[in-house]
Amino acid sequence: MATKPASAARTRTSSAAPTPSRSTKKPGVRLLAKVPLFAGLSQAHLRAVAALAEEVRYSAGRMIVRTGSPGVAFYVIVDGRAKVLRGTIASAKGTWLLGAGDFFGEMALLDGGPRSASVVAETPLTTIRIERTEFRKVLRDEPDIALKLLESMATRMRGMMEHPSL
Ligand code: CMP
Repeated sequence: MATKPASAARTRTSSAAPTPSRSTKKPGVRLLAKVPLFAGLSQAHLRAVAALAEEVRYSAGRMIVRTGSPGVAFYVIVDGRAKVLRGTIASAKGTWLLGAGDFFGEMALLDGGPRSASVVAETPLTTIRIERTEFRKVLRDEPDIALKLLESMATRMRGMMEHPSL
């Protein structure tokens, strides 16, 4: 019968477990302590930051932020590598590689403008994700984190000024 193969196919499709491209849980203090941006915080402060964050894993190839979209969250890479692509994907100009300890997504959260670039997971990626309101609270409460963030942003700006063609 013509319907049999179709219904069999439907069953196979619906019974196959979907491969998650993103999974989320609360981060432990130990995970945060591994990251240079949070290094040096006391246990109490680490717990306070952990309470505002989530641990999010992405599979390779997943786009995490897209050029031009509004900023929702800030990310710190705990494990894996990501690519920063300037412009649209089709006409991407510069590519910067980010690895463990690097962060992204701060610009749109700081100035309220759109995302300046797209960020794509190059390998399976473990991140600490902090949403906009919580990110701004962390910067207000933890001046050492704000200072480290500014230092890294200055280094990035220097790199872009030294290699403007990228
Ligand atoms: P945001 O604009 O919110 O979203 C895209 C992110 O890409 C941006 O924040 C930065 O975190 C990151 N990014 C932009 N330009 C560079 C760069 N030159 N080097 C590294 N990361 C960058």
